[in-house]
Amino acid sequence: MKILFATSECSPYAKVGGLGDVIPSLAAALEQMGHDVRIVLPKYTSINYVSKCEVVGDPMIVNMGYGTEFAQLLRTKHGNIPIYFIEFNRYFDRHGIYGELGHGYHDNWERFAFFCRAAIDMCPFINWAPDIIHTNDWPTGIIPALLSLHSKPNILNGTKSIFTIHNMAHHGYASKDLLRFMGLYEHYWHPFAMEACGSVNVMKGALQFASKITTVSKTYAEEIKTAEYGCGLDDVLKYRAKDLVGICNGVDTDVWNPAIDKFLPKNFSAQSLGGKKICKQHLQRELGLANGLNIPIFGVISRFFHQKGLDILCNILPDVLKNMNVQFAVLGSGDQHLEWRLKDIMSRFGGQISVWIGFDEQLSHLIEAGSDFFVMPSRYEPCGLNQMYSMIYGSLPIVHATGGLIDTVDNYNELTGVGTGFIFNDLTDSALYNTIGWACATYHDRPEDFEKLRKSAMKKDFSWSKSAKEYERVYLAAIGKS
Ligand code: ADP
Ligand code: GLC
Repeated sequence: MKILFATSECSPYAKVGGLGDVIPSLAAALEQMGHDVRIVLPKYTSINYVSKCEVVGDPMIVNMGYGTEFAQLLRTKHGNIPIYFIEFNRYFDRHGIYGELGHGYHDNWERFAFFCRAAIDMCPFINWAPDIIHTNDWPTGIIPALLSLHSKPNILNGTKSIFTIHNMAHHGYASKDLLRFMGLYEHYWHPFAMEACGSVNVMKGALQFASKITTVSKTYAEEIKTAEYGCGLDDVLKYRAKDLVGICNGVDTDVWNPAIDKFLPKNFSAQSLGGKKICKQHLQRELGLANGLNIPIFGVISRFFHQKGLDILCNILPDVLKNMNVQFAVLGSGDQHLEWRLKDIMSRFGGQISVWIGFDEQLSHLIEAGSDFFVMPSRYEPCGLNQMYSMIYGSLPIVHATGGLIDTVDNYNELTGVGTGFIFNDLTDSALYNTIGWACATYHDRPEDFEKLRKSAMKKDFSWSKSAKEYERVYLAAIGKS
């Protein structure tokens, strides 16, 4: 099959969260299965690979509802995968991807609507007719509606769309002007199309028009059909239930593999854990934490966002640090209030907790490798990648029982000594405090169990091949060949 991934993030060019990791690794797994896979994303200013890019022809026409625009198409290769960039400076010559300093750009709907149309118009421009356009979250969520237009390029007459929900919480709202902007007719302004509560809801449109819908874990696929997790679109998802599939994300084991990770001072594996101690000592030194191989380190790497439940962690951190002999290594940025709270805790418990505000790829690898535990108290988590990375790196995850966290972590059973992490059911201060205490007690009082859990976690198979086969089945069903 010919498969075009349309995305707002793709590592190593543009990454804010897990979407950036998922796209290139899923694409590579599908390519290895023999498919012709390509990726298109906006050419943000932050992408400085331009020198390796070739310019594809003259500027191409982008058919907007109000008239034509011209965008430059650029092309490079990531492994065997062709990557196309849409260069259009009015919208993408900015420092951020979605915004700056914690604020989204006011014209995000215009920027990504334009990108969607450009991704469509790119296909005749490069004379390539994908069987599938695989769209991801609201920034590419107008593509399914555009493919439903009679006026789409002829080359796309047989093309089907897949919409993957990476996060139900961001819908992409726009005023009705979006329809005219995109050349979508008046009848798209309808509750059974894109209208919701007097606005255009891009995610809703994607859920209505996509040939098939996927989301990134089996549990989340069930959760989002409920009012609690559906963010107001649970009825649409129930209506489309037979076209909705949960497929768990995998891990790119070329990038996240402690045996070959170039960011680590020393590599290690389940068979040879010596390097992990060196990583722990290095982490303590780098972050100004007190020396001590016997003090368990709890890692946190996260966007600071309501979803991630770090406010709950902040509520209990002072007591944890006072009452338990533990250290915390925290990396992330986002909500300023959370940044301040964490910094304040660091100022009171120096040597025991380090808080690094920012985005730092190298440090994220070192924290996974040097920690003993990894904390993810997410309110909801469509899949989550960090808990998988942490298991592969021998840091046992402590997670709230939600979404992909349930599907990927096996709760420690004290009777059998089996498991790969610690799961708590209620997202409360006391549940999180007690679970951190449980992990800490396991570390100190049942070291054989701790080592057994660590080895089981490191041996878990999160490679993409199984999930890529599931996506292949969805694509075949979409084009009527299943
Ligand atoms: P989400 O996509 O909701 O943020 P995931 O767990 O799926 O959560 O993926 C997060 C990805 O972003 C991981 O690769 C993680 O290491 C990375 N990440 C998040 N915050 C930072 C940061 N401050 N510095 C480096 N990497 C980060
Ligand atoms: C989203 C979700 C996260 C998921 C990632 C990649 O950002 O919050 O749970 O792992 O997308 O699918």
